[in-house]
Amino acid sequence: MTDGIESRLKEERKFVPSAEFSAHARVQSHAEYASLYTQSIESPEEFWRDQTCDLVFRTRPTSFLEWNLPKAKFFGGATLNITESCLDRHLKTAARTRAAIVWEGEPGDTRTLTYFELHRETVRLATQLASLGVRAGDRVAIYMGMVPETAVAMLACARLGATHSVIFGGFSSDALRDRINDCGAKLLLTQDGAWRRGSVVPLKQMADVAVAQTPTIEKVVVLRRIGGEKAPVTMKEGRDIWWDDLVAREAAPEHRAIAENPAAFDAEHPLFVLYTSGSTGKPKGVLHTTAGYLAGAHVTSKYVFDLREGDLYWCTADVGWVTGHSYLVYGPLSCGASCLMYEGAPNFPDPGRFWQIIERHGVTILYTAPTAIRAFIRWGDDWPNKANLSSLRLLGSVGEPINPEAWTWYHRVVGGGRCPIVDTWWQTETGSIMLTTLPGACFSKPGSTGLPFFGVDIAVVKDRGEPCGTNEGGKLVIKRPWPSMARTLYNDDERFVSAYWKQIEGVYFTGDGARKDEDGYFWVVGRIDDVLNVAGHRIGTAEIESALVSHPFVAEAAAVGKPDELKGQALVVFVTLKQGQTANAETKANLSKHIEKEIGKFARPDSIRFADALPKTRSGKIMRRLLKEVASGATEAKGDTSTLEDLSVLAKLRADED
Ligand code: WT7
Repeated sequence: MTDGIESRLKEERKFVPSAEFSAHARVQSHAEYASLYTQSIESPEEFWRDQTCDLVFRTRPTSFLEWNLPKAKFFGGATLNITESCLDRHLKTAARTRAAIVWEGEPGDTRTLTYFELHRETVRLATQLASLGVRAGDRVAIYMGMVPETAVAMLACARLGATHSVIFGGFSSDALRDRINDCGAKLLLTQDGAWRRGSVVPLKQMADVAVAQTPTIEKVVVLRRIGGEKAPVTMKEGRDIWWDDLVAREAAPEHRAIAENPAAFDAEHPLFVLYTSGSTGKPKGVLHTTAGYLAGAHVTSKYVFDLREGDLYWCTADVGWVTGHSYLVYGPLSCGASCLMYEGAPNFPDPGRFWQIIERHGVTILYTAPTAIRAFIRWGDDWPNKANLSSLRLLGSVGEPINPEAWTWYHRVVGGGRCPIVDTWWQTETGSIMLTTLPGACFSKPGSTGLPFFGVDIAVVKDRGEPCGTNEGGKLVIKRPWPSMARTLYNDDERFVSAYWKQIEGVYFTGDGARKDEDGYFWVVGRIDDVLNVAGHRIGTAEIESALVSHPFVAEAAAVGKPDELKGQALVVFVTLKQGQTANAETKANLSKHIEKEIGKFARPDSIRFADALPKTRSGKIMRRLLKEVASGATEAKGDTSTLEDLSVLAKLRADED
């Protein structure tokens, strides 16, 4: 796989959706897309009113937007309970007995929850969360894996107006503790363990370590997923409750009442906080609110995935990331879609697992990440070829730039040449898809994320906000607020304003570099800030560095990305050790373990390199660009490159050149 950014620069192929696909699509031509787009920009109030008329509002909005940086108030006057759009409204239609979640566990067990059942489970849990004292405005942490109960937990919180914060199950105890403490969650929902590649991730044990240092957590609710000695659990008297025992309790009438006939909340009521990485060491608690977020997730799900009756839609993202929030839970459920949810790894018990799942359940829409696609390519065409994938009609990609070779493989081998691909660009902060093609209306170009979605006023600009010309590279910015945008960073309005709205005055800066071509198609290059995208995981270099320097052996550290065929970017760290410490394999293993403890397994570096000193500018700033070159092998480091690199020498050579 040699095609990276260069081939994306040369890519000129266009893939037109089949006449058959377009004939049944929600939006059937480019002209139709363009006219809806124009309406969404020129008359947003009308556009959003028309497009959200199937959602449930207790009181309808009276205004579209009041914008007073950093306060955005969308759909003013509206009140709603988001779960009524996702659950209750479907009970009055044919969707009542339709599968909401078709779940497959890693060991092969399966379960289906109809909309009726998902509603019932949500109400049962919400009732008991109320009995435990969870009230509107409280924060609830969810540290669970890919099981239907995670969706139930999120919906139960939303039903009560409690703000959920899902913490990805790959995070360590320390990371969990910090996130709980940042948002002040009073309750934690977790499970005994989660299956991953045949072994158990001991979520409850990790939660115990975290909760020992979280003064706000009062109760821990534990789902029994694994059971038995594979996932030993210690229940702390008075604090820990088994999920099954909890929902089996007799309910007090007043708790039943708030769960069955839930309150309506203001459009701007906080729905969830989701932590993501930024360019400082402290993760950002991205806050999303109710009506605008729902509107964005709903309308994009409907149009981008072209959802219709009979579809079985599979988003492979973990529910612990924003993709799982918007396109596994809120978006598709608000459309009454049937969603597939899979618990485990794509190569367990063998690399054919995804294709067997598609065949077994008849998946029609698949939404996955380039890093997964590149792994499938490596595992060989036999695995997908062996399965019957004829049920698929639409494919999606998200999370990082897709290289044209991976795109065409996905199109040919998985999609049989007949399925359009939507390459969707968005972020935790945007809440929903911002750039994409509409599958029946627009051609796609491999590697391009396509056109702006409805209501998205997006551009490529220079440092001071002047527009870039056609095909000129620059910064990707969004020029006006959109309904599903993050409203703030939890308890940190100031950082919200400075990180996103002040980098380039008056517009939202995404952190990405991009260009826009002669057809108006966007080509996203990737992050241009200190954030890496490693196998679709967003990792802040500053977070890695602060984890490293908290280790007693480390004097100084710098983390950079290096192009990687499989992961998109690989994480390379340069470390200088304190006097007396030895630069050897054992130290490397220790440092790697340390990062695993501080952040999680997924953040372990791909390579650790020791240096005598880090190259710095005269003002003492680490020369990351130089380190990036060294990491990529573009610049030869002098001296013994295998262990000790004298990067200061290199820096001096560099300074002479400049
Ligand atoms: C960053 C956001 C919300 C999606 C999951 C990741 C990169 C995302 C694409 C795409 C090129 C993409 C960007 C963005 N990204 N989708 N289709 N093409 N790059 O959400 O963790 O908030 O990361 O992912 O760099 O800024 P996230």
